[in-house]
Amino acid sequence: MDHDDLSFDDIDELISPRAEETDFDRVVDTALSRRGFLGGVMTFGLSTFLVGTTALTRDALAEGQSDRFGFAAVPANTSDTITLPAGFEWEQVVAWGDPLVSDAPAFNEATRGTADGQAKAFGDNNDGMSIFTKDCRTVLAVNNEYTNRKIMWGNNADGKPASDDEIAKGMMAHGVSVFEVVRDDAGKWYVVKESDLNRRITPQTDMDITGPAAGDDLMKTAADPTGTTTKGTWNNCGNGETPWGTYLTCEENFNGYFSTVDETHEVSAELKRYGVSPKDWGYGWAKIDDRFDVAQNPNEPNRAGYVVEIDPFDPTTTPKKRTALGRFKHENAAVVLAPSGHAVVYLGDDERGEFLYKFISHATYSATGDNADILENGDLYVAKFHDDMRGEWLALTPDTTGMSDAEIRIHTRQAASKVRATTMDRPEWVAVNPTKAEAYVALTNNKNRGKKPNAGGDDTSANGPNPRDKNHYGQIARWMPDNENHAASGFTWNLFALAGNPEVHDDAYAGSENINAGNMFNSPDGMAFDSSGLLWIQTDGKYSNEGDFEGMGNNQMLAGDTVTGEIRRFLVGPNECEVTGLCWSDDRRTMFVGIQHPGERGNSHFPGGGTSVPRSGVFAIRRTDGGLIG
Ligand code: FEO
Ligand code: CA
Ligand code: CA
Repeated sequence: MDHDDLSFDDIDELISPRAEETDFDRVVDTALSRRGFLGGVMTFGLSTFLVGTTALTRDALAEGQSDRFGFAAVPANTSDTITLPAGFEWEQVVAWGDPLVSDAPAFNEATRGTADGQAKAFGDNNDGMSIFTKDCRTVLAVNNEYTNRKIMWGNNADGKPASDDEIAKGMMAHGVSVFEVVRDDAGKWYVVKESDLNRRITPQTDMDITGPAAGDDLMKTAADPTGTTTKGTWNNCGNGETPWGTYLTCEENFNGYFSTVDETHEVSAELKRYGVSPKDWGYGWAKIDDRFDVAQNPNEPNRAGYVVEIDPFDPTTTPKKRTALGRFKHENAAVVLAPSGHAVVYLGDDERGEFLYKFISHATYSATGDNADILENGDLYVAKFHDDMRGEWLALTPDTTGMSDAEIRIHTRQAASKVRATTMDRPEWVAVNPTKAEAYVALTNNKNRGKKPNAGGDDTSANGPNPRDKNHYGQIARWMPDNENHAASGFTWNLFALAGNPEVHDDAYAGSENINAGNMFNSPDGMAFDSSGLLWIQTDGKYSNEGDFEGMGNNQMLAGDTVTGEIRRFLVGPNECEVTGLCWSDDRRTMFVGIQHPGERGNSHFPGGGTSVPRSGVFAIRRTDGGLIG
């Protein structure tokens, strides 16, 4: 099989082939035995399941009861463009390869650039992003998660990198792009290429390692015998921002970049849990940088898989890897202050059957004090959901895990398995409601639910917030912390939505009552609340528009009214894209949305049209009347 056709979760599956835990009959039995519970899930109005929502039926919800949205629903489609409701318009702000500094070359369709040019240009496959405003200047910080190898090197006959410089070009397309933006008189946003704030952070940028894992033997390498400094960040997926004005970038599938020449080389069990393997999955980084050779540098993978804190207004600062927040395939980092002033950070580990975490800082935030290192130390917890709609955060400590504090932050998955946390259906983004004490997590899908254990061997039978075996649609769960305090150890939970297809199924796979023919989607992923408390949902799902996915069109963005449960489609993306990354201008008149990997299978020319190379990018969306949007 051509590795270029594999997604990161396909790679995980190949690295860690698990024996089928259950045969088909057992899967069916498991699903049937849970029917009573699913009955509760499926009745959207049941107060036990959807606390705080009105008891509206699928038909009533489909008619559109809520006037909070301010737009008419967009039908599903498979057009190679961005489709918005009437009264809205979009424009491109920046796309892969666009120069971020004035001495960098323009994007070159024929060559697709060089390593040096890419290091000064907007990276590929943008994902999470935040906007920051200070002293009348506006900065966007945008993750560049990975690269479309077939497009990056698509000008070569074999679609592979032709030289070390081309491997380095792919490497430089990863990391974070930080750049100033302004709006011209016509209201159009553009990149200020002359700005002294613009910065590319790449897999070669100097980083500090901070927190409980810093200096531990597991963090030491030949290049860094102290275990306190490293280079670079890559596979930056979702994001977060702090009340003290820093950007958080989250390292997700960091494992897929390590390899060694000998593909029979055995990596340690600890690395296997994280999907590190000796095989080169197509990036070739070990060929140009020994750090990525896992046989030569077996501790190097321990130095990735963290949340990294960046000051968006000071390009001279060194980004800090925050080991206190644990090491796993970080999706995003949703920060909220507890009433006590402690920073609470919700964190998902996006792999089948892995876990949902919470961090609580030791230090407290002060509006007038120095908050720079609040994320350096704190307590780490993992979620346990009970079927009675209650849940608790289990502390990961030396006492509960038998591991040292440093080991807990490095081998966090193993620590969570030891306390028997709840295995989840691939936790993607967490979003915290700014108007109410509750948080939401997108559980994107899990074809192995009820079928195979997770990579640590933990049982993955259907459970409360992950109620469906072989779950290829996903769901959104939410929890309300006790005493309206995100630092509390207990919570009550329910499901906001079970994605599904009510046109194809009439069982649990039809989805919850708030899913209908007019708004159906699969694989919720990015999520963010706007200032009014509407929940925006972005998808990274199947776009075949066939079979189980018939009628769903391309990937999309929807808004959810968390009080009524109504969900309405706002945007449909171009062909073969994922919609990911969302933030708003200070005046709430522009919404910035990310479009990632259009044409990943060769069927898009977005955004340039014609026969142009498809490019990921950031797009500004406004009302044509200039009104508020979120
Ligand atoms: Fe990078 Fe889990 O999405
Ligand atoms: Ca994602
Ligand atoms: Ca995803």
